[in-house]
Amino acid sequence: MNALYSTDTQYIHPSILNADFLRLGEEVDAIATADAVHVDVMDNHFVPNLTFGADMVEQIARHAPIPVDAHLMIDDADTQAPLFAEAGADSVTFHLEAADAPVRLARELRRKNAAVGVALRPVTPVEPLLDVIGEFDMLLLMTVEPGFGGQSFLESMLPKIRLARKAISEANLQVSIQVDGGVSQETIERCAEAGANVFVAGSAIYRARDAAEEIATLRRLAAEGRHAH
Ligand code: DX5
Ligand code: ZN
Repeated sequence: MNALYSTDTQYIHPSILNADFLRLGEEVDAIATADAVHVDVMDNHFVPNLTFGADMVEQIARHAPIPVDAHLMIDDADTQAPLFAEAGADSVTFHLEAADAPVRLARELRRKNAAVGVALRPVTPVEPLLDVIGEFDMLLLMTVEPGFGGQSFLESMLPKIRLARKAISEANLQVSIQVDGGVSQETIERCAEAGANVFVAGSAIYRARDAAEEIATLRRLAAEGRHAH
């Protein structure tokens, strides 16, 4: 288990995808009460959108008072992902669909001192990954199609979260489950109840009147969801 992620703890990770990029430093400071800043890296190939590169991640990591959680929505993960660990991301999550040798890549990222996440698009089944899930610190189950913020949560992903949590607990492994996409006050409790413990929220936090207040509300609802479980 990596020190960054314990399955017994719940984490709120605001995504800066919906932040004001011209004021990015202040936008990162505004979420300092969260557990990490989620940085969505997109290459216009794996997804039809283009955002930040490794240099930008390095600057964010240098500035941010909290850890950096890099979510790579890029092709050629095997060659590209290590650059983000070297840039100072505390955790690096790559998509299974973009990696040729996910286990080898996970080991390389851990050697570079990053926590490692593996992400699945909504239509990618989790079952084939379960045999090797202990190689990762975190499993990211996308709850929208990756590429854009502000989409609506896919309710149909809840059974996938439940199945993954059950398999991980039965194997006695410490693997966190992250949900990303459409996570809000309306959906976070159900995600927690299904077994997710790391919650990414972009528009819910950056479109709120007060980001810190929204983070506190999401934390409370996530804790309520876990107790219901
Ligand atoms: C989508 C990104 C998300 C996105 C979430 O591809 O991975 O991190 O910012 O945004 P919301 O919370 O608005 O769905
Ligand atoms: Zn993301």
